[in-house]
Amino acid sequence: MTENQDLLYSIPVPLLDWYNIHKRVLPWRGTRDPYQVWVSEIMLQQTRVAAVMSYYLRWMEELPTVADLAAVNEEKLMKLWQGLGYYSRARNLRRAAQAIMADFGGVFPDRWEDILTLPGVGDYTAGAVASIAFGQPVPAVDGNVLRVAARVAGISGNILDPAVRKDIRARISAAMPPDRPGEFNQALMDLGATVCLPNGAPLCEDCPLAPLCEANRLHLQDKLPVREKKKSRRVEDLTVYLLLRDGTVALRKRPDTGLLAGLWEFPHTPGALAEDAAGSAVTAWGLTPLDWQKKLTARHVFTHVEWHMTGYVLSVRGENRDLFWANRAELEQLAVPSAFKKFLEEAKALL
Ligand code: ADE
Repeated sequence: MTENQDLLYSIPVPLLDWYNIHKRVLPWRGTRDPYQVWVSEIMLQQTRVAAVMSYYLRWMEELPTVADLAAVNEEKLMKLWQGLGYYSRARNLRRAAQAIMADFGGVFPDRWEDILTLPGVGDYTAGAVASIAFGQPVPAVDGNVLRVAARVAGISGNILDPAVRKDIRARISAAMPPDRPGEFNQALMDLGATVCLPNGAPLCEDCPLAPLCEANRLHLQDKLPVREKKKSRRVEDLTVYLLLRDGTVALRKRPDTGLLAGLWEFPHTPGALAEDAAGSAVTAWGLTPLDWQKKLTARHVFTHVEWHMTGYVLSVRGENRDLFWANRAELEQLAVPSAFKKFLEEAKALL
């Protein structure tokens, strides 16, 4: 599969033909009033079209203009939103209406950049309002649109990655028909919501884009779009010991398998130990702490694990057969992983 921008350039004609016939009839579609478009888009965030309908109609009866919304009291605002969830959306709507009254003379701003400054408005909503109400050729890319674009153009990047989303926005922007941007955006949304369905069940036989769709051609509908949550790294606390004895420092060899196999490391124990517990660990190795000189901290990030290290520099006497006591020249020769860089530098400075 190769990602193919030309496929996106081929979308507008068949998509808009399809939209002319199949577009959903929705109460906010009979208008280009930016206030109505904006309220509908905010309600449609995280909420299904069927659930939004009655709320939208009641809202427009009660609060038909930006000025009405700016002046509404909290109780009425909450009553109108009750049941839609995510109530910060309603409060942001009112704050934005107040900003329009105060900063834009009560007139809904028509520039994408200005719409974006309103509370609760992000790239998607600004794009939807600018394109639907003002006919500006800017994209409005929601989850439905990402799915359609990823499938049609065979885009295999992770759509949870902001860089991939940005790239898809730019590609859709490039393919946008300048004369019908609002309809183009809504057609992509409708296609995603009614035909190019998620979870491996798209209705490709009903899709106007099927003849040019890379996912359809290669039967990758259930593989695209890729949505991979970042795995969170495990954090391990360690206590690291710089044990000094007669001009040498103690090292031990890591096991021959696993992380950093076979390399040399400073002895350490699990957990972030306080000095008394660290002293007990040193004693358990058969060594006697003489002089606690310094405490250090360091972090190292591996692919799947992150070490948070607490380090102690101390002089000791005694012997332990798992430890190798390296002088300065020997320390230079040994392979010590960069996870211990800070401790290695400290040791070199002390020897
Ligand atoms: N989902 C969010 N906004 C929409 C719109 N304008 N048309 C269809 N579905 C949508």
